[in-house]
Amino acid sequence: MRFPTSTTLIVTALVSRGFATYAPISTPCPSTSLVRTATGLSDEEEAYRTARKAKADVALVDWLLKTNCGFDTSGELPAVALTSSGGGFRALLAGAGVIRAFDGRDSNVSTSGLYQGLTYHSALSGGSWLLSSIIANDFATISSLMEIWKPNFANGLFSPEGSNATAVFADIDTDIALKQAAGFKGTVADAWSRLLSLQLLPGANYGAGNTLSAITSLSSFVDNEMPYPIITAMNVDLSGTSCIPPSNGSIWEFTPYEFGTWDPEVAAFTPTAYLGTSLSNGIPVSSNCTTNYDNLGFVLGTSSTLLNDPTIGTAGSPDLLLANLCTSTATSNSTSSVDELTLEFKEDIFALLVEIPDVTFTSAADLFATWPNPFYNLSSSPLVSAQENLAMVDGGESGQVNPIFPFLQPARNVSVIIVNDNDGDTAAIYPDGAELYYTYLAASAAGLSRMPFVPSPDVLVAKNMSDSPVFFGCGDVSTATVVWIPNAPLTPAGGVIETAQMQINETQTESMVANGVAVGSQNDSAEWATCLGCAIMEGSGKRLPEDCAACFGKYCFKQ
Ligand SMILES: *[C@@H]1O[C@H](CO)[C@@H](O)[C@H](O)[C@H]1NC(C)=O
Ligand SMILES: *[C@@H]1O[C@H](CO)[C@@H](O)[C@H](O)[C@H]1NC(C)=O
Ligand SMILES: *[C@@H]1O[C@H](CO)[C@@H](O)[C@H](O)[C@H]1NC(C)=O
Ligand SMILES: *[C@@H]1O[C@H](CO)[C@@H](O)[C@H](O)[C@H]1NC(C)=O
Ligand SMILES: *[C@@H]1O[C@H](CO)[C@@H](O)[C@H](O)[C@H]1NC(C)=O
Ligand SMILES: *[C@@H]1O[C@H](CO)[C@@H](O)[C@H](O)[C@H]1NC(C)=O
Ligand SMILES: *[C@@H]1O[C@H](CO)[C@@H](O)[C@H](O)[C@H]1NC(C)=O
Ligand SMILES: *[C@@H]1O[C@H](CO)[C@@H](O)[C@H](O)[C@H]1NC(C)=O
Ligand SMILES: *[C@@H]1O[C@H](CO)[C@@H](O)[C@H](O)[C@H]1NC(C)=O
Ligand SMILES: *[C@@H]1O[C@H](CO)[C@@H](O)[C@H](O)[C@H]1NC(C)=O
Repeated sequence: MRFPTSTTLIVTALVSRGFATYAPISTPCPSTSLVRTATGLSDEEEAYRTARKAKADVALVDWLLKTNCGFDTSGELPAVALTSSGGGFRALLAGAGVIRAFDGRDSNVSTSGLYQGLTYHSALSGGSWLLSSIIANDFATISSLMEIWKPNFANGLFSPEGSNATAVFADIDTDIALKQAAGFKGTVADAWSRLLSLQLLPGANYGAGNTLSAITSLSSFVDNEMPYPIITAMNVDLSGTSCIPPSNGSIWEFTPYEFGTWDPEVAAFTPTAYLGTSLSNGIPVSSNCTTNYDNLGFVLGTSSTLLNDPTIGTAGSPDLLLANLCTSTATSNSTSSVDELTLEFKEDIFALLVEIPDVTFTSAADLFATWPNPFYNLSSSPLVSAQENLAMVDGGESGQVNPIFPFLQPARNVSVIIVNDNDGDTAAIYPDGAELYYTYLAASAAGLSRMPFVPSPDVLVAKNMSDSPVFFGCGDVSTATVVWIPNAPLTPAGGVIETAQMQINETQTESMVANGVAVGSQNDSAEWATCLGCAIMEGSGKRLPEDCAACFGKYCFKQ
């Protein structure tokens, strides 16, 4: 289907009447600047952070005293952030269970109430599906989201709405054709995004009306009830020698207010609401700008786009087709998530290209999520200043499957980072700490000294610390404290599926979330809740309960 350009005017008119469209919209530019250098937080995030932190402190005091009345909760408390890792629907469901275990509205276990004490929540890939579903549904509880997820996940990503799949594919094709008619690329990443949106986001036309910037108008955001959300994706420089991001590749941050990266070779941010606008040297190239490009489904789809696999497959297989588009070789430890894709998954993706024929698929750039580059021709952003479009992939593709980098920025003043790791490193598809180690290496290389020392996974295995929570950075006030909570089989049904599994029956959805609740609360353990409190208060300089000494002996990593 091809629409004439004039169609976009009709779409704009329909949007003004409440029609949910995926296509970007042309609108007069604001008088304010659209690019700022990364010298600190935006005024908007700073205001949110401060207001949210004040609310979080009140909840944290309640929770700390519930777990152990020996905590000194006077004065200001540390800012606590949560990261939800990648790992497909496994990461979504295991991560959802951990959030449920922390959420005082949604569980009654030893850790319930800690969620209300968070200031920030970052996520990537499968974790970003979870975070987006929570925030787009106005900070909904996991148990209420499960009623939306269960039937959708049971149909499966590639069989949306079961018997109606053909009609759904036709609607998605229309969405992509309208985006193209508005002058933008529509790649397989857009089709992937629309399918994920259908499963996770509320509203008409498979959630097409959700944008990341519009989160700011939801009541839970206006009231500072939700931790400030951050979704990450990786940059790939298509003018370079590899289709895979290097281990020091730029990590893009998508937040309700801004998009950009702290990477010194870019070091710039732009308002999320105006993503899609063509800028040169920070100035709009025409009097009209673009809005609605920041479709939330496209953001979470970008964070999980990993079709840039350059490995050579057997003749006739989808691998070979990808290899033909993307011939360069990998240069980093970054292929872990790509390697996890099964042949069946790739075949399903290629079947989409038949079902959704308007998707363009002719060059290497079509393997990526395409975003017009807001930092084009910006001399202070030399890494990307020559690129009209940014090519983005899964936020975990550098090997860092936990989105920790946003919280190593001193401006966010995060003292405690709870890292819920649902990656699948072991043969049984549980994490072993490898990705946390990659983050430590990358942070060291980038000079991000807030990251505490993390050893390689073999050290954790040798100390019998690779399959249960570990605290990193104990006793060092110059770094954040990282509380690593790895997924583990704590219930009989366990908590794993392969990253590439895109269809999950209702029983399995429930059992994986239930296992996540057991992981978050360590089987509803009161001792664990106290120890988690000790980790949070460890660097605060305040008096700690006597029980903390045993906690640090058990959970702190010591070289
Ligand atoms: C600019 O935006 C206005 C308001 O949305 C719209 O009416 C107009 O058609 C746009 N102009 C172009 C050239 O797209
Ligand atoms: C940073 O957090 C500490 C508590 O951990 C607090 O004392 C300090 O005032 C905070 N600074 C800013 C700028 O928010
Ligand atoms: C939570 O559980 C405890 C004991 O297991 C019980 O005493 C308490 O009443 C429960 N609270 C709620 C809100 O259900
Ligand atoms: C299929 O579409 C029809 C019409 O929109 C709707 O009533 C029905 O519930 C859909 N079926 C499924 C399985 O979603
Ligand atoms: C990333 O590494 C490449 C070489 O591996 C180097 O040229 C580049 O400057 C590095 N980027 C940063 C931000 O350090
Ligand atoms: C880059 O920006 C400069 C300064 O605004 C402008 O003169 C020049 O035309 C721009 N170049 C391109 C290729 O857009
Ligand atoms: C790959 O990981 C190893 C540690 O496992 C590290 O020594 C090496 O520097 C990494 N290579 C790159 C390119 O990041
Ligand atoms: C490893 O740790 C677990 C729980 O932390 C404990 O039950 C087990 O005995 C330990 N195994 C060894 C060999 O130390
Ligand atoms: C949690 O309970 C399961 C049994 O349901 C047990 O196998 C496991 O060791 C327990 N783990 C912890 C950390 O208490
Ligand atoms: C759900 O999926 C699990 C794992 O594949 C399987 O063992 C179980 O039989 C399924 N249950 C139903 C009701 O289909």
